This record gives sequence, C-alpha cells and structure tokens, in this order.
Amino acid sequence: MTSNINLPKKAIILYDSQSVGGSTDRLIDSIGRKLAEKGAYVEKARCKASADYSFVKEFDLVVLGAPIYYLLVASQLSGALSRSNLKQALKGKKVALFVTCGSPEPMAQFLYLPQIKMHLENPVILVEKVFSPDQVSDPSAAADFVGDITEAFSKSC
Ligand SMILES: Cc1cc2nc3c(=O)[nH]c(=O)nc-3n(C[C@H](O)[C@H](O)[C@H](O)COP(=O)(O)O)c2cc1C
Repeated sequence: MTSNINLPKKAIILYDSQSVGGSTDRLIDSIGRKLAEKGAYVEKARCKASADYSFVKEFDLVVLGAPIYYLLVASQLSGALSRSNLKQALKGKKVALFVTCGSPEPMAQFLYLPQIKMHLENPVILVEKVFSPDQVSDPSAAADFVGDITEAFSKSC
C-alpha cells in the first residue's frame, strides 16, 4: 500500500548551547530520535558563528534553535545567522524553529523567536516552538513538536 504522506528524508538539526549535555542537548536528542522514527536520516550540528554552511543544501528539513541567555539567542547561532553563509543556505528551505527558555511563552514569541526569524529570507517556516524548562526534558513535548513538523512538511509538498 502506498502512502500520500510526504515525510522529510534528510533532516539537519542546527543548534547552539553554552552547556554540554544540558537541556538543549537532551531536547535535540529527543527531536532527532523522533524524526528518525518517522523515517528521516538525521544529523545534528552545533553552530559556530564562522562555519561554512553549504552542506545545509543537502537537507530537505532544517530544525533550527537555541536557548536564550540574558534575553538573547545563544551567540554562536545568532552569529552564524548574521555573519556566515547560513542565511544564504536557508533560502527557500523548510525550517522548524525553536527556543528553550525560562520566560513565559508570549514573551518568548515576542522577544526571542524574532531574533532568529529576522535573519531568514524566504524560508518556509513549518513550526515555531517555545520549550519551557519542564518541556525540554519531556519526551512527549519533543514528540508533539516532531508531529507538528511532519504534518506541516507533508502539507507543504
Ligand atoms: C546564564 C543564563 C541566562 C539565562 N537567561 C535567560 C533569559 O534571559 N531569558 C529566558 O527566558 N531564559 C533564560 N535562561 C534560561 C535558559 O534559556 C534555559 O534554562 C535553557 O533551557 C538553557 O539551555 P541549556 O541547558 O542548553 O544551556 C538563562 C539561563 C542561564 C543559565
């Protein structure tokens, strides 16, 4: 039996965090596992402000996000968006955005997600998500995020 659902085949999770093995790392692992369960080949890469992001062109889904420190998106991701060729590589890409933070969701929607979106030119933004401290360690929150991504991805095809 054939399915009409179009799922991502190759997904890259681009992220940043000051912590190693912290809440964002755990969240990324959960998101990666859930995407792989949906049949995607998944890679993850911690952003560096000065890296070459040409490799992003190979992927049909980009998950992009970072924690907030002192009201700002973590510096290597925001640096990559403003100073490297990441912005160019994301043109026209299907993108899912997230931030992890301690602020209430309305504040994060208003103050933090725009810090990422302001750098994006013509992406297809499938989903935007604010993960609160209790959600970052909750596998069902990652599963819901991936469910929303795959549904929006399929509809966008
Ligand atoms: C030094 C520091 C500064 C933070 N500043 C903010 C902030 O300004 N706004 C906010 O909503 N959360 C803030 N947080 C909460 C983090 O964004 C949140 O705990 C995030 O999940 C941390 O990710 P990590 O474990 O990968 O470092 C801060 C956390 C730390 C450690």
